Amino acid sequence: MSEKIATAPRVQVIMGSIRAGRLCPRLAAWVMEIGRASNGLAYELVDLADWPLPMDDEPGIPARGAYAREHTLAWSRKVASAAGFVFVTPQYNWGYPAALKNAIDHLYAEWVGKPVAIVSYGGHGGGKCATQLRQVTEGLKMRPVATMPGITLTHEMIKGGPVDPARDFASDAEAIRQALAELDALLA
Ligand SMILES: Cc1cc2nc3c(=O)[nH]c(=O)nc-3n(C[C@H](O)[C@H](O)[C@H](O)COP(=O)(O)O)c2cc1C
Repeated sequence: MSEKIATAPRVQVIMGSIRAGRLCPRLAAWVMEIGRASNGLAYELVDLADWPLPMDDEPGIPARGAYAREHTLAWSRKVASAAGFVFVTPQYNWGYPAALKNAIDHLYAEWVGKPVAIVSYGGHGGGKCATQLRQVTEGLKMRPVATMPGITLTHEMIKGGPVDPARDFASDAEAIRQALAELDALLA
């Protein structure tokens, strides 16, 4: 590992989808590729499927920070270790996935004050999901970047057709680069 990467701010790219057959890993990998090629942040993929958090199972209020469950304490350590975040998330029924909200709601202080970029996708770019998620990040006193790239999927893609992000969404790459540059600036 180069010295530059070793000291670079750590950014977790959190995938909003845990759905079977999901598209999210391909899009998140592409977002990370763009980030690694364009700025010096250290990107790490976080798959919520690897962090099973039973729905709303903490007995206390997360904002008070006294977690009772071992899986919440592990998730807390994970999120606390990041300087910033990128949420790569699909739009589900005009909102963002329940798994993402549940993962956010298990914690509080671990998010506060940290920069975040939101990359959404869906049949119309997932803008409604991005707007809602942005509002949630503001509630958590995070610092969302201004640029919110929205990737538009075709009907064929939504039905499970082939997707090559670098080829199919080339026109979105600049907005993603811009959002990640804004994240980098907030972390400088
Ligand atoms: C439960 C559900 C709800 C969806 N709702 C929307 C929607 O409101 N708007 C939209 O554009 N696409 C919607 N879609 C299509 C998704 O954008 C598309 O299936 C996408 O691939 C989902 O991301 P994922 O494969 O990473 O889970 C929905 C898909 C699912 C599974």
